[in-house]
Amino acid sequence: MTKEKSFMKLLITGGAGFIGSNFIHYILKKYPDYQVVNLDALTYAGNLENLKVWEGDERYRFVKGDITDMTAVGPLMEECDVVVHFAAESHVDRSIMDPGVFIETNVRGTLVLLEAARKYDKRFHHISTDEVFGALEPGDKPFNEETPYDPRSPYSASKASADHLVRAYFHTYGLPITISNCSNNYGPYHFPEKLIPLAVTNLLEGKKVPVYGDGLQVRDWLFVEDHCKAIDVILHQGKIGETYCIGGGSERENIWIVKKLIEMLSKDESSIEYVEDRPGHDRRYAMNYSKIERELGWRPETNLEVGLPKTVEWFRENESWWKGVKSGDYQKYYEKQYGK
Ligand code: NAD
Ligand code: DAU
Repeated sequence: MTKEKSFMKLLITGGAGFIGSNFIHYILKKYPDYQVVNLDALTYAGNLENLKVWEGDERYRFVKGDITDMTAVGPLMEECDVVVHFAAESHVDRSIMDPGVFIETNVRGTLVLLEAARKYDKRFHHISTDEVFGALEPGDKPFNEETPYDPRSPYSASKASADHLVRAYFHTYGLPITISNCSNNYGPYHFPEKLIPLAVTNLLEGKKVPVYGDGLQVRDWLFVEDHCKAIDVILHQGKIGETYCIGGGSERENIWIVKKLIEMLSKDESSIEYVEDRPGHDRRYAMNYSKIERELGWRPETNLEVGLPKTVEWFRENESWWKGVKSGDYQKYYEKQYGK
């Protein structure tokens, strides 16, 4: 374990999205002397409502800008101590509809950030996904840091490319990087195109929940606050050049999740609608997080029995947030994806 570091000024990319905004709340609450600059292009997934409580706080600054634009990135990189890179196109189904923007943001955007970080010699933490490792079958061992890359969707291929670039900058230029690959997050501010927030909000609206294929695909669910804590320990104690796998220890079939939410929201199974499967749908993801547990002392604290009720409660209490998100362009996306 390396000596614990302290960073005064963090550049967060994609801080107006789901995980980025949770991370900004977490950091500003935990470290009263830290400052955060949030660089976000405010795509359909970016929402400044997520961070309203920090407006006017001198420790927080929002900059609207695109990570593919060096003129936006350069000056912010120069003034920060560390960059935590969340910004991405993040939804697998959208990558199947329209892959180009995933290469532009996830690959070229990461390259622009790396070039700026190299110029100013900045610590770079890259947020990645378990999807770069491909798909598991029931009974296969969970992914770990040694698992070969085998991405199977345009989204995961773009994230794998970005990961390779980040590692290349460490090996070639000595850039001080770390990478984390995590499993499926859930919690507050989760955009309702993803399974859990889509199911919760559809059920709250009295609509059906679309379940792809047989619903027996498995994901490993990680409560977003646990993910924020893991990034925190990697930033402060992680070893430069290393990758850390982060999992929730909560593998469940999709249909289990949907039935649980139906029960929690007092609906019945007529709310389930089996729909056409996702092309190339990865059957199972699972993460072995023993490296980060052994080396940095992190493990997930919130299991689904606690995290799902907290999440449902948050969506119940924040109806205007998700109703706002679900208006406008969201409806066009929904019609295109689900045919209604
Ligand atoms: P999100 O889609 O909710 O948010 C992405 C954010 O990035 C948005 O605020 C968006 O406006 C911003 N953004 C997109 N393109 C940009 C650009 N060109 N320039 C600047 N900002 C841009 O995503 P998320 O679910 O919060 O995921 C964050 C990161 O974590 C991503 O890198 C994703 O690949 C990774 N990840 C997510 C999960 C998950 O379960 N959500 C799991 C593993 C890894
Ligand atoms: O594993 C980490 C990844 O998790 C992240 O890298 C991605 O950014 C994030 O979007 C998420 O990807 P998934 O494709 O696993 O998440 P999603 O919520 O879209 O789907 C979860 C599972 O639920 C998956 O097996 C597909 C299924 N599903 C999804 C939707 C949106 C349905 O059955 N019906 C749906 O309507």
